[in-house]
Amino acid sequence: MCGIVGYIGEQDACPILIDGLKRLEYRGYDSAGVAVLNGGGIDIRKSVGKLRALENVLEDCAPHGCIGIGHTRWATHGRPSDENAHPHSDCTGRITVVHNGIIENYVELKDRLVRGGHEFKSETDTEVAAHLIESHYKGDIAQAVRNAASEMDGSFALVVIAQNEPDKIIAARRHSPLVIGLGEGENYLASDVAAFLKYTRSVVYADDNNVVTITREGISVTDLDGNLIDKKAQTVDWDAAMAERGGYEHFMLKEIHEQPRALRETMRGRLSLEKNCVELPGINLTHDEIRKIDRIVMIACGTAYHASMAGKYAIEQLCRIPVELDVASELRYRDPIVDEHTLGIVISQSGETLDTMVGLNEVKNKGAKVIAITNVVGSMAARDAHGVLYTYAGPEIAVASTKAYTTQLMVLYLVALYFAQIRGTLDEQRATELREALWELPQKAELILNDVTAIESAAARYYCFNGFLYMARGANLASALEGALKVKEISYMHAEGYAAGEMKHGPIAMIDPTFATITVAVKSKTYDKILSNIREVKARSGDVIAIANPGDTTISDYADRVITVPETEEIFSPVLVAVPLQLMAYFVAYNRGPAIDQPRNLAKTVTVE
Ligand code: G6P
Repeated sequence: MCGIVGYIGEQDACPILIDGLKRLEYRGYDSAGVAVLNGGGIDIRKSVGKLRALENVLEDCAPHGCIGIGHTRWATHGRPSDENAHPHSDCTGRITVVHNGIIENYVELKDRLVRGGHEFKSETDTEVAAHLIESHYKGDIAQAVRNAASEMDGSFALVVIAQNEPDKIIAARRHSPLVIGLGEGENYLASDVAAFLKYTRSVVYADDNNVVTITREGISVTDLDGNLIDKKAQTVDWDAAMAERGGYEHFMLKEIHEQPRALRETMRGRLSLEKNCVELPGINLTHDEIRKIDRIVMIACGTAYHASMAGKYAIEQLCRIPVELDVASELRYRDPIVDEHTLGIVISQSGETLDTMVGLNEVKNKGAKVIAITNVVGSMAARDAHGVLYTYAGPEIAVASTKAYTTQLMVLYLVALYFAQIRGTLDEQRATELREALWELPQKAELILNDVTAIESAAARYYCFNGFLYMARGANLASALEGALKVKEISYMHAEGYAAGEMKHGPIAMIDPTFATITVAVKSKTYDKILSNIREVKARSGDVIAIANPGDTTISDYADRVITVPETEEIFSPVLVAVPLQLMAYFVAYNRGPAIDQPRNLAKTVTVE
C-alpha cells in the first residue's frame, strides 16, 4: 500500500508528481506529500487527507524544481496526520525519503538512532529510514542507502533525494513494488506504471535488494554490496487512456463495463474453436509434469481468493485433481503439505500482495512448481513463479476489484480445460461444448451490460435496508462471497455470503423484512434446493432478489425480484453472475454516497502483512 513517485528531468517536477500520485491514489489516501530539489535545498509540502487537500496547499505555494519525489499514504505506523505524512527528512533536512512498506525492526533502529542524538518528528517507521541513511552518509548517497537497506528488516520501496547530490534520485526495494520509467533526458519512478504511462512505456522493474541511481541521462542498478546489475528494459502494452475514467463517473463502473473486452483479450491466443483446443503459452509446465500433478494448492487474498473458489470447482469437475484453497495469510503460517507433485496456483491482480507472495515462495521452496495468474506484467508474482498466465484486464484502478476477478475466472477455466485436454479427463464432445460455452461468455456479459435498469431499480429499493445475505450453492458460492464483499467494501453495509445449505445453521435467524437476501438461482444441479431455500426465507418475511436465467418461469413465483443473466454451463456461470452483483454493489453505494473508487480504510494493493 502507499504510492510513491519520483521524477528527474528538465520539466517542473511538481505537476508531474501530482499527476502520478492521482493515478496511484488507489494505493492509499490518508495523506499525501511531495518534496522537490530546487537548487537551494529540499522543499516539502504535505497534507493529511486525500490528494485534493495537498493540491489545495500547492495552489498557494507549489515548490519548483526539476527533481522531486511524492507519496500517497495508507497509514500503518502512526495515524493519518500532517506530521506522519511523507516525505520525511533526516535531522539536517538534507536527506528526504518516501516509503512504501513496513520496516519491521524500526523500534530497535529508532532506539539506537535516538541514543546517537537523532531527533524524530513523526511516529512513522519511514522517518527511521531517513535518519538511518543520514547516519551512514559520508558523501555518497547511493552507498548510504545500500548500508541503510542492509540494516532494515521488512518491506520497503524507498525513494531518496539528497541536497548535497542534486543530480540524482536513489531508490531501493525489498518486497514492495518499484518500477522505473525511461524517458528522453528524463526518468521516472513509481509503485506502478500507471503513474507515468502518459510519458513512457519503456520500463525497468527493480528486484528485491536492488538499489537504483537515476539521473536525467540514465539509470544504474546495484545489489546491496554495490555490485552492478545489468537490467533490461521492457515495453508495457497498456496505454495512458486505459488509466483514465473515459466518461464514466467512477473507475469501478468503467471497469465493470470493460469486462467483455477484458474477457475476450484474456481468451485471445489461448482458446481456439477452429483448432479445437486450449493453448497456454507461458504456463511453463511439460505435459508430463501436468499428468503427474496429484494436488493443487491455490493461494490468494480478497477477491482473488473468491476466484480461486470458483476455479477449484472447475478444476475438480473437469480434471479430477483435488484442489486445496488457502487464504494466503493462513497458508504462510500453517506449514502446508506440499511436494514436487503439488502445483501451486497463485492468483493476484497486482502480483504484489505481500501474503500471497510469501505463500508463493513457501510452496516453491517446498518443491512445488508454481504458476501465477496476475494482471501486472513484470510484477513480483510474474517473476517469482515458474510460469505466468496474464489476465489481460488492463489497469484496474478502483479499489473494489471487478474485471480482474472475471478475467481471473477466465484464466482458471482455461487452465481446467487445458489440464483436462492433457490428462484426457473429458470426452471430445464435452470438451467442445465447454470450449464453445467459454467462447460465448464475453458476448453474454455484454448482453447483461446493455440493460442495467432492473439492477439499478433493485438497488434503489434495497440501499436503505439493514443489510444483505448472499446465498448460493456450488460454483456460485464464490459469487455469493464476492457479491457480499463488493457491498461491504464500497457501501460499508453489513453483507454476508453463505452456502445456501448452511442457512438453517444460523444465518436464517437474521432474516426480517429489512434484511434482503440475494440468491443465485441460475440453471444448476442444485436449482431445486435453492428454490426451497428461497421459500424458507420468504416464510420468515424476508425479501428475496434472485439472479436467474431468462425463460425461467418458476422463479418469479418464489422471489420478489428477478435479475436475469444469460444461461451458460454451471461451472462458468460465476463470470456472468458477477456482473449484476458488481452493479448491485455499485448502485447501492451510489445511493448511499460514499467514495466508490476509494473506500475508507482500504487500499488496492496490500503490501504489508
Ligand atoms: C485488496 C484489494 C482487493 C484484492 C486483494 C488482493 O484487498 O482491495 O480488491 O482482491 O487486495 O489483491 P491482489 O492484487 O493480490 O489480487
